[in-house]
Amino acid sequence: MKILYATSEAVPFCKTGGLADVAGSLPAALAAEGAEVAVVVPLYRRVRERFGDQLTFLCYDYVNLAWRHVYCGLFALEKDGVIWYFLDNEQYFDRPDLYGYMDDGERFGFFSRAIVRMLDHMKFWPDVINCNDWQTALVPVYLKDDGVREERFRSVRTTLTVHNIEYQGRYNPYVLGDLFGLDAGWVEDGTLLMDGDLNLLKGAVLCADAVNAVSPTYANELKMAYFAHRMESVMRQCEYKLFGVLNGIDMDRYDPAKDPSIAAAFSTEDMSGKDADKAHLQRLVGLREEPHVPVVAIVSRLVSHKGLDLICEVLHDMMKLPMQLVVLGKGDKKYEEFFHWAAQQYPGRMAVRLDYNEELSMAIYAGADLFLMPSKSEPCGLSQMIAMRYGTVPIVRETGGLKDTVHPYEAWRDAGNGFTFANYASNDMLHVIREAVYLYKDFPDAFGRLRKRAMECDFSWARSAGEYLRIYAGVTGQVWPAPEAAPVEASPAAEPVSVEEAAAPAEEASAEEKAGPFEEPVPAAETVPETVAAEKASAGRSVEKAAPAGETADVKAEPKKRGRKPGTKNGAKKEPARKAAEKKAAGETKKKGTAAKK
Ligand code: GLC
Repeated sequence: MKILYATSEAVPFCKTGGLADVAGSLPAALAAEGAEVAVVVPLYRRVRERFGDQLTFLCYDYVNLAWRHVYCGLFALEKDGVIWYFLDNEQYFDRPDLYGYMDDGERFGFFSRAIVRMLDHMKFWPDVINCNDWQTALVPVYLKDDGVREERFRSVRTTLTVHNIEYQGRYNPYVLGDLFGLDAGWVEDGTLLMDGDLNLLKGAVLCADAVNAVSPTYANELKMAYFAHRMESVMRQCEYKLFGVLNGIDMDRYDPAKDPSIAAAFSTEDMSGKDADKAHLQRLVGLREEPHVPVVAIVSRLVSHKGLDLICEVLHDMMKLPMQLVVLGKGDKKYEEFFHWAAQQYPGRMAVRLDYNEELSMAIYAGADLFLMPSKSEPCGLSQMIAMRYGTVPIVRETGGLKDTVHPYEAWRDAGNGFTFANYASNDMLHVIREAVYLYKDFPDAFGRLRKRAMECDFSWARSAGEYLRIYAGVTGQVWPAPEAAPVEASPAAEPVSVEEAAAPAEEASAEEKAGPFEEPVPAAETVPETVAAEKASAGRSVEKAAPAGETADVKAEPKKRGRKPGTKNGAKKEPARKAAEKKAAGETKKKGTAAKK
């Protein structure tokens, strides 16, 4: 399976939000499962400055965007089994910031156009292009547009991942031809038209072969007016191809047992380091060094949908509880001013840093006891997962990915991994904060067990990567895992692994995937329905037939001059023994996780 992941930002190269974290870790997880994966990103100024010396220039070409005939350079580097492509055009991308320019529409129109046109120069012809948010939303549209004239584009399937439906790429329909080089028919038939605007995201939702939201609950919420920013009817119309796949986090990067960025390491076996981290945090931000008072933390952009109004309403009631509060983040002036003022009312008990600071955020995840995220909406949310990994128990509102990752504490059967409330109401939030604070103070053993359950949750990418691959399989008609991977034990290079041994972990893994990593299974509706997959499979096959292999071969043969890249992933087929061993290890890890939870 060949996958091209198209994104406007990715860690470690360029980041403004959660999309970059996902794009920085999902591709490698897909590659680890045996897929061939490449990522394509714009060559922004900051990428050139920080990584320029690691990039290899491959070639350049000209891309037609309406009446423009624009230079596009292609750079690459290889990392963790993934090929990273960077599209260069200094006029569009040699700027200090990633977004926020008046010509963003043209910039990302160019990026999407160039992704499709530069396919000819990439290492492999993709089976699927996974687009992300509005910036790459025109890719499915251009593929269809070009596919009318050029047969080889018809074999490429597309998926769209929605990280946040709030941003849709809306423009005056008047610019369609001049800016994006598309025929008026795209607006006239409604594909790119919404509420009188040209709407790029809508086009992608309609044209992509599958759409996935970044959590199962968010996939459902997208069908509701409250969450969908006017896209609810389009999402309902496309329900048949809508999935929800929970994001993961990089479990190696965020590991309290070996994270060099925190003051003291700790793990579920030995939590003493956590006490040291707490004392360190209290000193760092000027809170009183009180080991038995719970520190509640907020690390967030200070914007309305993060639910900060609830905190503003009951802050004084919160501060009547025996707790401390630390806030890190910046954003809207009204929240910045409120928190700045509030901190002065509670010296030694409340600390506020109006900043985006990676180092301090790690000190907070490691040193705090409770992590507050009362979001009005939250497509997935990564911070609650990071907090849990560091034993900082989350208090969240039940929305989007927060609902999927945090399960409420139930004292009577000693279950759950955090605290939750459902209504967007400050008193409901206050109620669970009180419950959490007193559990910490009055029942330290129960709190310790709750904290341990939070730390043991499996938020690794491996599981979500499997779900992505099943979606890709559904839209391409390919079988995944690839059948060639099966005769592992027949290979002379393989370790002497018995048939049962080789097969068992894979079975366990898929059972685990179906059940989800937590105590409660992911609702069945959100897993890839077999029928859709089957329908897609047949659709994919028929289209593939229409696109002769020769076409693709021609394209691939053309840019021979760039030569072969060393260490390119030809995947599991070539290394069956390694793959079997990895699968086995993965199976065992998953088994361990499940057992521990019980
Ligand atoms: C967006 C969402 C956030 C999600 C992230 C990664 O930033 O707001 O909830 O975790 O994308 O998908």
